[in-house]
Amino acid sequence: MRLIIDSANIEKIQEYVKYLPVEGVTTNPSILKKEGKIDFAQHIKQIREIIGTDKSMHVQTIASDYEGILKDAETIQRLIGEDTYIKIPANKDGLAAIKTLKAQGVKITATAIYNEIQAILATELNADFLAPYVNRMSNLNTDPYQAISNIYENIKRTDSETKILAASFKNVDQVLKANLAGAEFVTVGTDVVDAFLADANINHAVTQFNNDWNDIHNKFEI
Ligand code: G3P
Repeated sequence: MRLIIDSANIEKIQEYVKYLPVEGVTTNPSILKKEGKIDFAQHIKQIREIIGTDKSMHVQTIASDYEGILKDAETIQRLIGEDTYIKIPANKDGLAAIKTLKAQGVKITATAIYNEIQAILATELNADFLAPYVNRMSNLNTDPYQAISNIYENIKRTDSETKILAASFKNVDQVLKANLAGAEFVTVGTDVVDAFLADANINHAVTQFNNDWNDIHNKFEI
């Protein structure tokens, strides 16, 4: 499982890079809103410095029309860097923009994927990543794991380089199931990342080991 952080919170990202195999960061307007009235470009550049410039940074366009999406993509690349993955919702205008931008060699993450046909079309257009929305699919009574598995099979069948970056998680179980179904990458928000190691039994076991050593050696180190 290749982990990407679905957050723009500087403190959390700084914390995660210390102990997690973080491969990148994804943002969208709702995620950025949580950070208040930030200087967009400066904030994203700070995140890039924290994760390392060899890691992937995915930034979403705002405009809803084809021309506007192209303009946003150009602005993101100019302000943040040409190697930024431009996140574009896979709707009609989004797919048109993906087609144009991929022809120019721009890195693309097709997002807001609620169904297989969106994913299959974005794969045909050579999007680098597909972001199926796991929890949101479940809420709509779509089995996200079956969808991911079918999307994965289509990628294999067509010998595509496109990767699945599953998104929209509300618990750890969803993350593991999406990964098992074929999502090589997962992008996970801070509430769920914080739950990865939250099992109280882990720290209970460690405390017990340390106390047993201390009982004999009277110190908490070797
Ligand atoms: O990366 C997409 C994701 O942020 C959407 O997640 O939690 O709003 O369904 P959520």
